[in-house]
Amino acid sequence: MTSEDLRHHGDRDTAPGMVDFAVNVWLPAPPRWLRDRLAAALDRLATYPSEADDLAAREAVAQRHGRSPDEVMVLNGSAEGFALLPNLRPRLAAVVHPSFTEPEAALRTAGIPVHRVMLDGDYALRPGLVPDEADMVVIGNPTNPTSVTHPAAVIRALARPGRLVVVDEAFMDAVPGEPESLTGDPDVLVFRSLTKTWALAGLRAGYVLGSPETLARLAIDRPQWPVGTLVLEAVTACCSPAAIAEAEDTARTVIEYRAEFVAALRDAGIEVVAEPTAPFVLVRVPEGTRVRETLRDKKFAVRRGETFPGLSADHIRLAVRPPDQTARLLAAWPMEVPT
Ligand SMILES: Cc1ncc(COP(=O)(O)O)c(C=O)c1O
Repeated sequence: MTSEDLRHHGDRDTAPGMVDFAVNVWLPAPPRWLRDRLAAALDRLATYPSEADDLAAREAVAQRHGRSPDEVMVLNGSAEGFALLPNLRPRLAAVVHPSFTEPEAALRTAGIPVHRVMLDGDYALRPGLVPDEADMVVIGNPTNPTSVTHPAAVIRALARPGRLVVVDEAFMDAVPGEPESLTGDPDVLVFRSLTKTWALAGLRAGYVLGSPETLARLAIDRPQWPVGTLVLEAVTACCSPAAIAEAEDTARTVIEYRAEFVAALRDAGIEVVAEPTAPFVLVRVPEGTRVRETLRDKKFAVRRGETFPGLSADHIRLAVRPPDQTARLLAAWPMEVPT
């Protein structure tokens, strides 16, 4: 049984006081140096966001990804960018699932026909699954919630004249070296987020890389001063070489913690779905709703699976956390299935 809800996200599965395995934000708060940068920028809030700040942010992003500043647009989180996708007026958008649902929600809300490309098993993408007539293809990489990273070459193989490939790379900075990132491909539209690694969910900060023509069409109805000074400051700060090195360290820690977590889950007889590559793990358990509710009663929040197209209530997504927290989660996990 599924109960899809494209607007349900992990934040609805958690609450203050719970140990949070539902939301994939890595840190409990932004790091000190980033808070200091944002605090210093408060002094500039009396003026409207300046062109200089916007350019500085776009230059920092461009430098980080080997692009030019006119191929960068700063966003109020990648979610804002998904809401702008209908401005590109696709005739048929193919959305690869299971995946983060905001792109499909935004396209459907605007009345754009959506074809769902459903993956299962190992959740590998085969380009032949995408209908020829789709002039937009949307895919997450690494994919939330499956934690699968598709090879860049497989995503590139989706490209053809008249079709725009859109990649949600919100979690790519948690993959060391980002070997499958498409941020260097000028014809692909790539969305990135500052939310997850930098604990900035409440600020709403991200950006998109694409051709200047595509970005101009995407932005057609954005208001004057579309992003605030603090967002621009955060983007500039998080694209500095020191921040990139810090994110890379975090990505390596994610790998260590995830390996321990996956081993512990498997030791406990819990099925880990596919081979996780992102800072979260998808599991499948009998009686998933009962498991989730029991954990919730013990103050552990986990992300329900059934609101994702293609998943069921027996799928549960778990954020990678430090081993002491995952040990507590496993100790609380209801192992016995009543008959
Ligand atoms: C895969 C994926 N993409 C994008 C987003 C939204 O990111 P942002 O906070 O940058 O809007 C999320 C948030 O949960 C996500 O999981």
